[in-house]
Amino acid sequence: MIQAPKGTYDVLPSDQGARRTLRAHAERILTAAGYSRIETPAFEPTELFSRGVGAATDIVQKEMYSFDDGAGRSLTLRPEGTAPVCRAYIEHGMHKLPAPVKLWYLSAFFRAENPQRGRYRQFWQVGAEVIGADSPEADAELIVLLGELLEAMGVASVRLRLASLGQPETRGAYRAELTEYLRANAASLSAEVRARIELNPMRAFDSSDPQTRAVMVGAPKLLDRLGPDDAEHFACVRELLDAAGIGYEIDPTLVRGLDYYTRTLFEFTSDSLGAQSGVGGGGRYDRLIEQLGGKSTPGVGWAAGVERILLAAPDQPRAPELVDLLVITAPAGDAPAAGPGGSGDDARAARPAAFELAREARRAGLAAQLELTGRSLKSALKHADRLGARYVAIVNDSQQATLRDMAGGEQQELATGAVVAAILRGKRL
Ligand code: HAM
Repeated sequence: MIQAPKGTYDVLPSDQGARRTLRAHAERILTAAGYSRIETPAFEPTELFSRGVGAATDIVQKEMYSFDDGAGRSLTLRPEGTAPVCRAYIEHGMHKLPAPVKLWYLSAFFRAENPQRGRYRQFWQVGAEVIGADSPEADAELIVLLGELLEAMGVASVRLRLASLGQPETRGAYRAELTEYLRANAASLSAEVRARIELNPMRAFDSSDPQTRAVMVGAPKLLDRLGPDDAEHFACVRELLDAAGIGYEIDPTLVRGLDYYTRTLFEFTSDSLGAQSGVGGGGRYDRLIEQLGGKSTPGVGWAAGVERILLAAPDQPRAPELVDLLVITAPAGDAPAAGPGGSGDDARAARPAAFELAREARRAGLAAQLELTGRSLKSALKHADRLGARYVAIVNDSQQATLRDMAGGEQQELATGAVVAAILRGKRL
């Protein structure tokens, strides 16, 4: 038996209801706030991510599915959406559009991670990006919108963590200070953190090793080193969130695995998720567009994991699938109880009429299905029950049909051409 690759999964018909709900909420909330949908390709030049996400990040170092395109060029299945959206912004000259450009996406992403609950190798994100606005309002509004989406989905036990990273220069100086501190305390650090002191010292804050954590309590914090403009920007974001009544924790140790962030950084977690508690997060990336070859343009955004939202909000109301009409061809000699008997010839003649009736019903806006397996009449009616069909039309010959209301069991004989009108008359709106 061939199975789906490790860390991937099938989105089955029974999973679609919850996903449809999520998509509808995202579309409603983001469209109302002026966001337009964008979809970028599933793969991009590898360089987009090494330059955009950062060569030292885990994502670029260990988690990318990269392959040769056959012409010597390296392509990568997108591990995230921000760099591709910025690439598209530059490529399509979106700086000519009225600023800011607000975009959202709902797409599949790929990371070669160790799979576990809430962590997959192919997963979905809903994301939003605002390009061309540097005001703190843009940051606060995005946070509010993600909060609304999580609330609309009923995500349980949500917490918001907030920090600011300042500018890369501030970060550079801070990084040197932190590296110095880590070197001085190297003996108490876990081997993994020690090995990465030079490459990515910030990740030390992420460690779960108790001794390392103890060392990090006393480590210098970037939030205490922000320049005056960045400190002011952060204070404004906080004021706006306070005024909106959004609760948050300032977390100077907040680390996210992408290098493009400047200033505001945030993450929503849900305690109901266990180890993979990050439901969604993002931040400001004022240097990214320039880094990718565009004109210096500020940006801010977030992405939230679809699977994690659904795991943290398991009780989605599942709208029943609607079937207005199931069209059956009366099998030869197997007519409905109250209907005329059908001969073999009639049954043959009924087939195109039944086929046409299903098409006509769908054109009229009804959810109509044609019975496709050649079931006996009895089992076709049982099937209609299972589907929850409101009506069944049994087409007896090229002209005549029996229309059965499945709720009450009443039947009427009528011309096949009159079936749709009869259903529409009886349809509750
Ligand atoms: P990220 O934190 O890497 O950020 O991913 C965002 C969300 O995607 C996570 O909070 C998590 O819910 C989900 N996620 C990430 N990896 C996996 C995985 N392997 N399996 C399941 N879910 C996963 C970004 O991707 C940034 N592009 C967000 C952003 C947008 N920043 C600015 N704009």
